Amino acid sequence: MKELKNMKDKNMYFKGKPEYQLTPKTSDWMHELFNDQAVVRGLMERYGSPINIHHLPSFNKNCENYQQVFQSYGLKYRIFYARKANKSKGLVKQAFASGIGVDTASFKELEQSLALGGNAENLVLTAAIKTEAQIELAIKNGVPIILDNEDECRLTQTVAAKLNRKANVGFRISGFKVDGEKLYSRFGFDVDEVVDFIASYVGDGKTFDLLEVTGLHFHLDSYSTHQRSISLIASIHMISALKEKGYPITFIDIGGGILMNYLEDEEEWIDFNEKLKEVVINQNNDITFNNNGLGFRLEDGKLNGKRNTYPYFNKINKGSFIKEVLDFTDDASGLSVASLLLKNDIEIRIEPGRSLLDQVGMTVAKVIHRKKDARGQWLVGLEMNMSQMMSSSADFLLDPFMLYNSEIEEIEHVDVYFTGAYCLERDVLLKRKITLPRLPAIGEYVAFVNTAGYMMHFFETEAHLFDLTTNLIFTGSNEKLSFFQFIDDNKIVLE
Ligand SMILES: Cc1ncc(COP(=O)(O)O)c(C=O)c1O
Repeated sequence: MKELKNMKDKNMYFKGKPEYQLTPKTSDWMHELFNDQAVVRGLMERYGSPINIHHLPSFNKNCENYQQVFQSYGLKYRIFYARKANKSKGLVKQAFASGIGVDTASFKELEQSLALGGNAENLVLTAAIKTEAQIELAIKNGVPIILDNEDECRLTQTVAAKLNRKANVGFRISGFKVDGEKLYSRFGFDVDEVVDFIASYVGDGKTFDLLEVTGLHFHLDSYSTHQRSISLIASIHMISALKEKGYPITFIDIGGGILMNYLEDEEEWIDFNEKLKEVVINQNNDITFNNNGLGFRLEDGKLNGKRNTYPYFNKINKGSFIKEVLDFTDDASGLSVASLLLKNDIEIRIEPGRSLLDQVGMTVAKVIHRKKDARGQWLVGLEMNMSQMMSSSADFLLDPFMLYNSEIEEIEHVDVYFTGAYCLERDVLLKRKITLPRLPAIGEYVAFVNTAGYMMHFFETEAHLFDLTTNLIFTGSNEKLSFFQFIDDNKIVLE
């Protein structure tokens, strides 16, 4: 123990520093762990590599941040954590403990969330494909179902009739017109038709008399606050029209897609973007693996395409993103979106996934081998595969941390790529070349921070029969870090 304490003063861990750095925002809990490699080693030995760690106090802080924003406007609100972004049960339990709800997108997500303490008040079902079983489970538990199309209305009506119950539903809408352009989505009812549809077919004495419409819903594919404000205003008007026709609608759910910020420094982000374009144009790309343009390409001497990644730096994010949506002034009434919601007594709901997971997670993997490829590049093989940290886009653009088992001075450097266990040439965990103060040794660890939102589970597979990553729920505490503060998510019992 004494020896460990001494190690804390030494340089045992380093952020990778490529020429064009992308320094991630980090939290104290991450550095505490980096400084206590005995705990990391204990966890790796117990659970295998890689491990996903989830820090509950950070999740709780994000919940509080959104709650405070809505409270500051005096709005009625509900927050539903979109658990599609991370499958861990521990986060669902924490969501309820933090006073927010959970957005579920499949039978199992709904079933588990119910067993973890969910109910009609704190759950919503928004699945893109809704089976009879899902709808039945939702109706039996009074969970609101967000309807996407007429076939879903029909199925919900049939199931409700079978159960002799009414179904609490919201209607998902798309196709809002913003600045003269109609926003396309494959989801939802068309904005120009939904009011007539509800008025014609839903309610007492009509085709869908067992559907009780309590809200409207949209989820936009973009990260624009402007589009959300305009869509909210249009939804408020629709609610007024529906209220006049006798539908007592109470909420608008604006889905997720609320930006978060991954990076410390805007300059680094700008410089990296400029450099990426430059190396693609000049065909001298030495910053990414195999000349990967991350979406940019050179065609007939011209730069085409665009960076196909999440926009990792965002000045406006989380609470300030919501504020920007609510503060927008409606031209017609001269009122802000927040005032319009208050005036019309409408509850606003959000379903953040990624942004509620900001600073909540990290993925740690063990170094298995090092080799030089035929181009003289160092490849560091990890006990992990690409599906265990995979972005839906071209790359996860955050510098990783290398946890060394001995003191390091930054006098030398080595450029590496981290490679994974799949039999695919493209199983390279980060596409950017990462510069380290020394070549990692076998058995040392690399940590990828802020991976809880989508990176851990969304594309995880069991190809080659690799085990799925163990998800650990880190309760955190002011006491000294200990192995026992990490709970295996598989061990969380369902009631
Ligand atoms: C209906 C719905 N709600 C919420 C979310 C969560 O979005 P995010 O994780 O970007 O906040 C999604 C994401 O696809 C969604 O489709």
